[in-house]
Amino acid sequence: MILRCQPGYELLLERELRPHGLAMGANGGGWLATANTQETENACPDLCFAHSALLAPREITGESVNALAARIAEYFLESARTERFDAQWPLAFDCAANLDGLGRRADAVEKAFNELLRKRMSRVAKLAALPSRLSPFSPSPLRGLFVYFTDFQRAHVARESISYGQRRMADDPLAPSRSYLKVEEAYGVIGREPAPGETVVDLGAAPGGWSYSAAKRGARVVAVDNGPLKAGALNNPLITHLQQDAFHFDPTQSDATSNAPADWLFCDLVEDPRHVLENILLPWVERRWCKHYIVNLKFGRTDPVALLSEARARIPAARIRHLYHDREEFTLVASL
Ligand SMILES: C[S@@+](CC[C@H](N)C(=O)[O-])C[C@H]1O[C@@H](n2cnc3c(N)ncnc32)[C@H](O)[C@@H]1O
Repeated sequence: MILRCQPGYELLLERELRPHGLAMGANGGGWLATANTQETENACPDLCFAHSALLAPREITGESVNALAARIAEYFLESARTERFDAQWPLAFDCAANLDGLGRRADAVEKAFNELLRKRMSRVAKLAALPSRLSPFSPSPLRGLFVYFTDFQRAHVARESISYGQRRMADDPLAPSRSYLKVEEAYGVIGREPAPGETVVDLGAAPGGWSYSAAKRGARVVAVDNGPLKAGALNNPLITHLQQDAFHFDPTQSDATSNAPADWLFCDLVEDPRHVLENILLPWVERRWCKHYIVNLKFGRTDPVALLSEARARIPAARIRHLYHDREEFTLVASL
């Protein structure tokens, strides 16, 4: 397999893989190849630090853009000979992050490949779409064509890929923080988003990116934080700001939530992650104070892989991801 991750997180991904009997082979900026060569899709576990997995990739080399495009097209046409394409299918060209100009190379090969595909299979070419548009997260592999360049003469090409749900999100000029992008991305991993009339408790809300994201969808938000709300979260009629300690907030005792559990718990506290896990997430889950949650745990000085194992053991139902927009943190999501 080729596993992709946020650049700089390859060694954490390697450590995450070890208990699954997978080792790191070749690697570069934002990717690693597992050392085993014969994985099946069953051998690909649910992972936090991986963003996608190219299953059974074939290495294709070529000196020029046209040579690479021709070989990729040849591989695709041969492997798709007996396949029917009745709906949109995922087509992705990407590249490692550590080589200047590699993105331009990948774009040029993609363009040449698309021209070849249009000539040979124009109907199939029209149905190609970006994987993130089709399915941000899917527990089973997507079938399409996934091309990943690790240097100027080398691409890894697979017909199947697992997408763990991370993707780059578009900013909103009214969003008070870049943190807004994290919650927007997390909706794709959980597979739903706050709906009009739903209630959200946002712990550690300021300056209000997550609250704004929920209010923008018509949900009513109780934003708990001693800090001030800003931009689109400030004076927002759907957001009630409570300046109090998140660890003492009980929705069943608060007028702001009509003394009722919430539909959603959002939590993005800059606090010790074990304290958040133990004293917020676990009690909220056990008491059924929410139906869905999106909770960030910030590693700080904590060992991320040990924290991840602990979180998985304590809350096996949570899907845990190092999001595209996450930094030194990961995000737990689930519907109860
Ligand atoms: C990373 S910021 C949250 C950003 C927010 N999600 C957004 O989208 O704008 C973390 C926040 O946690 C708040 N915080 C830390 N400890 C807290 C506590 N015990 N109770 C309430 N808020 C807390 C801080 O005041 C800070 O505003």
